[in-house]
Amino acid sequence: MKNVLIVGSGGREHTLAWKLNQSSRVGQIYVIPGNAGTAEIAENIDIDILDFAKMADFAENNNIYMTFIGPEKPLVYGIVDYFKKRRLNVFGPNQEAAKLEGSKVYAKHIMEECGIPTARFSVFTEVKNANKYVENCNFPTVIKAEGLAAGKGVIIVNNKKEAKAAIKKIMENRYFGEAGRRVVIEEYLNGEEATIMVFADGQTYYPMVSAQDHKQVGEGDTGPNTGGMGAYAPTPLVTDEIKNKVDKNILNPLFDYLKKNNLDFKGVLFLGLMIKNGEPKVLEFNVRFGDPEAQVVLPLLENDLLQVAEKINQNKLKEVTLRWKSSKAMAVILASGGYPIEYEKGKTIKGLDEFNNSDNLFVIQAGTKVKGDSIITDGGRVLALVALGDSYQSIYDRCYDNIGKIYFADAYYRKDIGHRLKGVNLLKNE
Ligand SMILES: Nc1ncnc2c1ncn2[C@@H]1O[C@H](COP(=O)(O)OP(=O)(O)O)[C@@H](O)[C@H]1O
Ligand SMILES: [Mg+2]
Repeated sequence: MKNVLIVGSGGREHTLAWKLNQSSRVGQIYVIPGNAGTAEIAENIDIDILDFAKMADFAENNNIYMTFIGPEKPLVYGIVDYFKKRRLNVFGPNQEAAKLEGSKVYAKHIMEECGIPTARFSVFTEVKNANKYVENCNFPTVIKAEGLAAGKGVIIVNNKKEAKAAIKKIMENRYFGEAGRRVVIEEYLNGEEATIMVFADGQTYYPMVSAQDHKQVGEGDTGPNTGGMGAYAPTPLVTDEIKNKVDKNILNPLFDYLKKNNLDFKGVLFLGLMIKNGEPKVLEFNVRFGDPEAQVVLPLLENDLLQVAEKINQNKLKEVTLRWKSSKAMAVILASGGYPIEYEKGKTIKGLDEFNNSDNLFVIQAGTKVKGDSIITDGGRVLALVALGDSYQSIYDRCYDNIGKIYFADAYYRKDIGHRLKGVNLLKNE
């Protein structure tokens, strides 16, 4: 049996633990730092996820066979290179490859060089040049901090005044720190967003089933962006025709380029797509599983995740055939009232026991922690209720018939996850 370590504390990491726990070859699972959900199937270890030396010491001392990195920050800061230097087996891209997420400027330049369809863009290092540019650009336009900003560094602006305020916030006030050293100002794209995540070993790449996230806090996609209020998979927006275009126009040129330039991408590449009139364009790359996309895509994967990761690290992904359940999956996030602006923590969560032993309805925890005999809230996104079923209607009903059974003070959830399915006539119109 193999011991594994997962780095991170959110819903994505609980899903990774849940999935790895189903492997007949996985022994003890450890999570740094984990949450109350991971504590039920793994041992949580309290180490800072940016303290690479301490985590590597832990992996050495606990006979860890492989470490899975959940969040972007340790990847972009080079955890994979550090673990490899210490001769530890780790799943994820190295620091150079992680720049695809760590620098939006870098990602845009690669897309340009490969001819990958994406929004037209300009890069600015000086406030005055950025300000000059927005004097004459079309609106709305999109202003992005170059670096990691926890999903908050993108500002959509409707006029010159808003644009200058955004430039000031990012570049002058350094609201997102060093991430705002440069900005990308890009063309606003209309359309429908979808996610495709890809397993890659540097030679072979295999797309997973598609998904659609719901980023905004309010129903009908209104209000500020969050980490994601729910998701479903696969999405009918990503038709076979679109899959072929993604392969031909995006993945093929990208992985060709990476190979030619000795950028060995191992792990999970996430494509954020905007689809309009049957044409997919890349909004961004991430270099790890999405959250909440992981919560709906991993439950549909039939393969042993440990084996897929092993084959990737051995450059043998081509020996794997990915197998997917024919089911559909939906996750509805239960969040703390007031999130993402201002919210309280420490509320006791009740009703979790209802969801213990079901394959088609289960809870993935995120911002939770154990306090005495209770589980309390410890973040904005608290947990996800995940349903699997044969039809979109069945997963929607299963989520919404049951989410009310989980309770904590000021709990909030969107009542319309999957609402875009109505456009394709898969969910009843109310
Ligand atoms: N060019 C664009 N046109 C329209 N909307 C965009 C554009 N770029 C980003 N967005 C919106 O902003 C969100 C966040 O942008 P993204 O590039 O994914 O950055 P991050 O996830 O790092 O915040 C996207 O999910 C999308 O809704
Ligand atoms: Mg994004």
